[in-house]
Amino acid sequence: MSDHTIRAEAPGDEAAIYNLIAQAFAPMPFADGDEQELVNRLRADGDLALSLVAVDAGGVIVGHVGFSPATIDHAACGWFQMAPVSVCPPRQLQGIGSALIEAGLRHLREQGASGVAVVGNPAYYERFGFTVIDGLAPASEHDQPYFRAQAFDRSAPAGTLRYAPAFG
Ligand SMILES: CC(C)(COP(=O)(O)OP(=O)(O)OC[C@H]1O[C@@H](n2cnc3c(N)ncnc32)[C@H](O)[C@@H]1OP(=O)(O)O)[C@@H](O)C(=O)NCCC(=O)NCCS
Repeated sequence: MSDHTIRAEAPGDEAAIYNLIAQAFAPMPFADGDEQELVNRLRADGDLALSLVAVDAGGVIVGHVGFSPATIDHAACGWFQMAPVSVCPPRQLQGIGSALIEAGLRHLREQGASGVAVVGNPAYYERFGFTVIDGLAPASEHDQPYFRAQAFDRSAPAGTLRYAPAFG
């Protein structure tokens, strides 16, 4: 489907993004109900490094992806965490989530980022190049089975990847 465009979050989008994330995660059994608050906390902390929205032909925001800085062994090294990814339920499975993720990864790569990590269903995220990187692990053991990453450069990142403080 190509009846949507992707653009950076603009002032005034905040409430629509908040509502969209709440709507997208509400039916998900793994959701903790905090996903929409997370984006507000990241924004308030100045850690919403990249925030993209998908907008339909009528100008309605139907998808969102956020990226925030991550550290490896407490060092800021150009890594980002991709979370959350949300598409409004009636528009899911139409390629919007994929388009948002690909646009975000492309932008970060072009900006010289070192890599991106994600916690989620590997069956979905591995198609975008996320994989298990030996030696790179999340701080939380709980995240471990769902933790995937991709390096944009030839470095072999190793250590403990930590998310921005807003993740708690
Ligand atoms: C997950 C989400 C962002 C995907 O966006 P989308 O626009 O619906 O997905 P796309 O159209 O880009 O991709 C569709 C493909 O992804 C698969 N897919 C979608 N969501 C998936 C999920 N949660 N787990 C595994 N596969 C998934 C579909 O089966 C489909 O596979 P196919 O191409 O082999 O047919 C969206 O469904 C959503 O907002 N879900 C609720 C919130 C959520 O779970 N966010 C991610 C948390 S980690």
